[in-house]
Amino acid sequence: MKILVTGGAGFIGSNFIFYELEKHPEDSILCVDCLTYAGNLSTLEPVMEQENFSFVKMDIRDREGIFDLFEKTRPDVVVNFAAESHVDRSIENPQVFLETNIIGTSILMDAAKAYGVKRYHQVSTDEVYGDLPMDRPDLFFYEDTPLHTSSPYSSSKASADLLVMAYHRTYGLPVTISRCSNNYGPYQFPEKLIPLMIANALADKPLPVYGEGLNIRDWLYVQDHCKAIDLILRKGRVGEVYNIGGHNEMRNIDIVKLICDELGKPYDLIRHVEDRKGHDQRYAIDPGKIHKELGWLPDTKFADGIRLTIQWYLDHKDWWENIISGDYQKYYEKMYGEGGIH
Ligand code: NAD
Ligand code: TYD
Repeated sequence: MKILVTGGAGFIGSNFIFYELEKHPEDSILCVDCLTYAGNLSTLEPVMEQENFSFVKMDIRDREGIFDLFEKTRPDVVVNFAAESHVDRSIENPQVFLETNIIGTSILMDAAKAYGVKRYHQVSTDEVYGDLPMDRPDLFFYEDTPLHTSSPYSSSKASADLLVMAYHRTYGLPVTISRCSNNYGPYQFPEKLIPLMIANALADKPLPVYGEGLNIRDWLYVQDHCKAIDLILRKGRVGEVYNIGGHNEMRNIDIVKLICDELGKPYDLIRHVEDRKGHDQRYAIDPGKIHKELGWLPDTKFADGIRLTIQWYLDHKDWWENIISGDYQKYYEKMYGEGGIH
């Protein structure tokens, strides 16, 4: 099977590429990524020379380029991770979220339709369901929970999901959608909660907690997300949405304190700062459908996953220090210059 993975130089996409190449060495992967600030090509260095892996620097908004690529490479399956993914940035500058997350998705699907791909998989998020109230721990997001978004980011992802379902119904495109809760693990860009707190704590810098820090997120180790997508690609039913989450709800402040404890840093690094605009209160996934239909269950408990993650950031200081200094953005130029499939 020839799998086209978009956004594979980012956090989850890169973990998915490593997972797939290991689990299915008989398949080949073509990674398409335009290397925004969040894409880091050096992350893919360990697989770059592998015969069944190739990389092309391309923007999913480039209709001509994408069609040309499909014409030349004829992928069987498309997995779309490429997105602008940070809520705070979407509040500052929504436009690029609409362009990449909605228009980019439509271009990929047009190409998938034109070249008869066997599966188009859209990597979506639990944020499309909006949030749940803090005082109703009995409530969860199900696949048929109405879309009810809060931020420009989640609105752009929900719009893309609606388009994906429309392409299925109107054109018969064989689609699936997964909606996962918050991921954590290796290679997450240090603007997101967990890696930001680890990097700042290690540098004895303030740890900025929005508001009281009581907001709840449902955390999943990234490899468990990759395992779920792999199962959906191979055994999931076309036209279906699958929620992915491990029933691991945590308050932000408790995560930050846990990171301090693990690193032996004092809580007085914590600073309560102005709250995020429109801040979602609680996310909580019911993963019953993917468990019942595909037998998926997470392998990694949060207590283990967070230790693995902290240890990874301790062992890979170069990776995130390069990001903080901005040096990683010179890597592509240095290694590959402009254009072409590597
Ligand atoms: P990320 O920001 O780490 O990576 C995004 C990648 O997409 C980067 O490599 C970037 O260069 C690339 N990209 C962005 N715009 C592009 C464009 N126009 N053309 C080509 N490439 C482009 O994001 P992530 O955290 O790995 O998230 C991946 C996907 O998973 C996103 O669709 C996101 O909505 C979804 N998701 C993320 C989480 C999470 O907790 N991080 C949870 C659920 C779903
Ligand atoms: P984030 O990692 O941005 O993911 P998302 O907003 O997609 O859930 O943030 C996770 C939670 O942590 C969210 O409630 C906002 C909060 N947060 C902070 O308190 N401080 C920070 O510096 C960041 C980045 C996030």
